[in-house]
Amino acid sequence: MADARNPLEGRSPAALAAAAVLAPGSLAGKVALVTGGGTGIGAATARQLGRMGAEVVIASRKVANIEPAARGLSEELGREVLGVVCDVRDRAAVDALVASVLARFRRIDVLVNNGGGQFLTPSEAITPRGWDAVVATNLTGQWALTQAVANAWMLEHGGAIVNVTMLSHRGFPGMAHSVAARAGVEALTRTLAVEWASRGVRLNCVAPGLIASSGFRNYPAGAFMLEELRSRVPLKRLGTAEEIAATIAFLVSPAGAYFTGQVLTVDGGQSLWGDNWVVPDPAEPSPVALPHEWWEEEG
Ligand SMILES: NC(=O)c1ccc[n+]([C@@H]2O[C@H](COP(=O)([O-])OP(=O)(O)OC[C@H]3O[C@@H](n4cnc5c(N)ncnc54)[C@H](OP(=O)(O)O)[C@@H]3O)[C@@H](O)[C@H]2O)c1
Repeated sequence: MADARNPLEGRSPAALAAAAVLAPGSLAGKVALVTGGGTGIGAATARQLGRMGAEVVIASRKVANIEPAARGLSEELGREVLGVVCDVRDRAAVDALVASVLARFRRIDVLVNNGGGQFLTPSEAITPRGWDAVVATNLTGQWALTQAVANAWMLEHGGAIVNVTMLSHRGFPGMAHSVAARAGVEALTRTLAVEWASRGVRLNCVAPGLIASSGFRNYPAGAFMLEELRSRVPLKRLGTAEEIAATIAFLVSPAGAYFTGQVLTVDGGQSLWGDNWVVPDPAEPSPVALPHEWWEEEG
């Protein structure tokens, strides 16, 4: 008979194991800073880390995102989630963010560099301003916050950093600026993982595939045919923000303590299969000619 006091009663062994990895209390006493924590993947991550016991700070540019998310998460978790307005492209704002977290909580054990974004465009149409904005957000901004948190806390006390990137190893046509920035973050992550290993700082990346999150609302209607994209994912569905949050939580938890310098791709197999950018064939393709060995007669 089911035990009503045991919330895990009746669940599969896999679900039990997953729940144990992300156990409530496994981040008790820790402080986590999540950029872009007011929406989508960042908000799901803030909730997940909070459920595991961490004190959580969320930060992004817009009060309209940060304020309601901080209020809602505080109510849900039953303790204050601090919301701070910060544009990661502004180094003074980044330093002020780190100072305010330390002033409030006295430590920063976990940093999730999730805040980011880009616009879909053919590469030949990217303006210098557009390129600089995307690189400043998705590469330099992540670096600025990483360096500030490292110098202010982690290099002395240790910590775990997760950088959210995107699928980069096959290239990403239509997103040249962002994929270049994200590939830079992945190289930076591998580099810092070695440089800072002896200081107790672990860094990893999570590269999401197609995730059904608020992020897609930032694109013009019709920019992405989500049903069509879904059909190219081997698991035949989009991922959820919670699935990315769970991966991030695993990496920063004691269960992920031997991971450093890695990129975890969470994409339902998308990067292994299918073309999202169809390269057009020439109007009159020439026939495929198989060469002969030089000693063979032709014809
Ligand atoms: N959804 C996907 O399929 C997918 C796939 C691959 C990668 N990603 C990446 O995953 C991350 C989260 O995406 P999401 O899907 O959750 O979309 P989202 O809801 O648009 O999240 C992006 C977050 O970043 C914040 N942000 C943007 N620019 C910022 C800046 N300069 N400084 C501080 N915060 C900034 C935004 O808040 P403000 O507007 O308030 O600043 C927002 O909360 C992004 O880096 C995204 O590119 C998503």
